[in-house]
Amino acid sequence: MGNVVVNTATKLDAHALRADFPIFEQEFHGKPLAFLDSAASSQKPRQMLEAMNRFYETSYANVHRGVYELAERATEGLEHARERTRAFINAPSTREVIFLRNATEALNLVAYSWGLNNLGPGDAVVVTELEHHSNFVPWQYIAKRQGADFLMLSIDESGDPDLSQLEEIARDHTVKVVATNLVSNSLGTIHDLVPLVEWAHEQNAIFVCDAAQAAPHMKLDVQALDCDFLAISGHKMCGPSGIGALWGRAELLQSMEPFLLGGHMISSVRADKTMWGELPHKFEAGTAPMAEAVGLGAAIDYLEAIGLDKIEAHEHELAAYALGRLGEVPGITLYGPSAERRAGVVSFNLEGIHPHDVAQILDLQGVAIRAGHHCCQPLMHKLGVAATNRASFYLYTIPEEIDQLVEGLYAVRKVFA
Ligand SMILES: Cc1ncc(COP(=O)(O)O)c(C=O)c1O
Repeated sequence: MGNVVVNTATKLDAHALRADFPIFEQEFHGKPLAFLDSAASSQKPRQMLEAMNRFYETSYANVHRGVYELAERATEGLEHARERTRAFINAPSTREVIFLRNATEALNLVAYSWGLNNLGPGDAVVVTELEHHSNFVPWQYIAKRQGADFLMLSIDESGDPDLSQLEEIARDHTVKVVATNLVSNSLGTIHDLVPLVEWAHEQNAIFVCDAAQAAPHMKLDVQALDCDFLAISGHKMCGPSGIGALWGRAELLQSMEPFLLGGHMISSVRADKTMWGELPHKFEAGTAPMAEAVGLGAAIDYLEAIGLDKIEAHEHELAAYALGRLGEVPGITLYGPSAERRAGVVSFNLEGIHPHDVAQILDLQGVAIRAGHHCCQPLMHKLGVAATNRASFYLYTIPEEIDQLVEGLYAVRKVFA
């Protein structure tokens, strides 16, 4: 099979970029690592690891509270990372950027802090059948707790949310929240959110964008998206685990109750009354994930130096290559849209072979993929399967890894022949 050329001058050079990632220096089961599980979590470049290390070695102290120089340096590190995150999503202000553990915590924050005070009987929360559980379960739980309706837009033949349901929903409900992902973690679909955002705003509903899977792969702009909240996770975009961010419109964040209570999020505490702090601190109780935030800032520097447009183009190319090569494997079912409409994610099943068996045998070939429901059980139900295999790609993925996957699948078929 012919090679895909992904490393011309105008394109990202994935072969060269791999040298930034120490993980690829190892072999697994005597084979080079074909790491095809970046949608679950990405690998880490030296530049990001060194930035975190430098912070620990030269600038570490608890932030915001200290008056000594070292604490000020640590605070500067954290706040610089906040500014990098703000610019990365084109948010109007750093006050609107809240550092949290991950996208899940960010989405829970909105569901609890906004939902508990704004949802009630007769109201509806609308999500889609394609949501990750992180943008599904918190809304289902809070809607139920508040006596509101929880509605799920089913997907149509092409795998997109079926918008023909919107008219009926608007007729029968007061829609207060529309929450959906920008990129699906199991099908890879890049959604055109414009019609849903416009519809949400026509209903006077808030629009919550789960960008956990979009942020690693494409340029984000919360103002152009016209959403009200947006959640990202650092570990999926070359940053460390333990750091994510929520962006929210200042006026909404200001009107909300805090999510977690304790140190740092207050302006004054008396026996009879506690006053909340200013944004973003009101939502950042306790000691901040300081080094992790610095790591996220360095990851953003790294991605932007490569260029998000180049990363996106590289993934489209890999997706096209993977769809072509995987399509040759007998008994394979491929899920999801055409390569131009997807980020670097390809879900598939091999006839008669459970995904867990596929993934285990592939591991012996040095190929790491994910097998399971990908935290998308409603979607699996729709597809009529319990699980799928999922190969996912990133800026460091090379076509040879996809070749290794395809060869591995032939080996799997042999075992089960
Ligand atoms: C689309 C999507 N949303 C949310 C999440 C949750 O991210 P985290 O586990 O980092 O909170 C994931 C993680 O896989 C995801 O793919």
